[in-house]
Amino acid sequence: MSPRLPRLEDDGLLTPEVSPYAEQKYRLIAHMAAMVGTSMKSKWGQRVYLDLYCGPGRARLRRSNEIIPASPILALGIPDPFDRYIFCDVDVDRVDALKSRVVAAGYQADCRYLPGDSNVLVEEILRELPPFSREQSVLTLCVADPYRMEDLRFETLAKLSERYVDFLVLIPSYMDANRNELRYSEEANKIVDAFLGNQSWRGLWAPGFSNWGPIRRLHCRAVYCPDGGAWVSAPRFERPGADSASAEERPALSPRLLLETSPRCEVLAGCAKVLDRSAVFV
Ligand SMILES: C[S@@+](CC[C@H](N)C(=O)[O-])C[C@H]1O[C@@H](n2cnc3c(N)ncnc32)[C@H](O)[C@@H]1O
Repeated sequence: MSPRLPRLEDDGLLTPEVSPYAEQKYRLIAHMAAMVGTSMKSKWGQRVYLDLYCGPGRARLRRSNEIIPASPILALGIPDPFDRYIFCDVDVDRVDALKSRVVAAGYQADCRYLPGDSNVLVEEILRELPPFSREQSVLTLCVADPYRMEDLRFETLAKLSERYVDFLVLIPSYMDANRNELRYSEEANKIVDAFLGNQSWRGLWAPGFSNWGPIRRLHCRAVYCPDGGAWVSAPRFERPGADSASAEERPALSPRLLLETSPRCEVLAGCAKVLDRSAVFV
């Protein structure tokens, strides 16, 4: 994995505070971006990095106050950069700060900025992806790092997966799902339905289903599988007896939970339908 991230001087631009655990998440994203950038360089005509929740490009670590580069800047700085970068964030100030940082750092990359809700902008995002043709193959790495389940709808990923897209998705299980279990479980609340793309989770969250709590239960299931077009369970994290699916019933293409990013168990879940490199992370 990428080494400890550099510490940066304050540039006076917007720099949100993050938990110290975020550094590990950034290192994983940087590692994945570098791996796809280099390994796919000669296999695809064009490679695109798509950051659906890009933020301003830097973060300040709580407690130490140290400033580190965040996902967009790390993805721009890889040894074999992508041919195009698409950055989306609902916060216009963050997009503007990112733009300023990209210019100040002198990156020559083809960068597209889309301020707005990534779920609403999905058609616009698709238009920014170079068209795929027999002469020009295009592979996209989509990084989705939302704060809350509410910020990401399953249908957004499903729509993007109509193209050749690999996903690296942070499941906000601890900070959001765990803390808001009661609210999300209410009949009228559709947030988890929209996040998972179905309602099958309701029975699994029922009291007494297991003593794992919602985090574990969500970890077991909230993995996006583009080929299957649905969120499916990840066998590796299942507890014997807690799931009725036998090995034979499990999907042939098993998505993987790549790594827990903090002791609090937020996870980055990735599914590579083109690359099958999850072993690198475990
Ligand atoms: C966890 S931060 C992302 C951090 C980013 N990956 C980084 O490295 O700094 C989540 C970001 O998503 C943005 N956001 C929240 N809801 C959004 C939405 N519906 N569409 C796009 N961006 C959204 C927030 O403004 C915030 O910058």
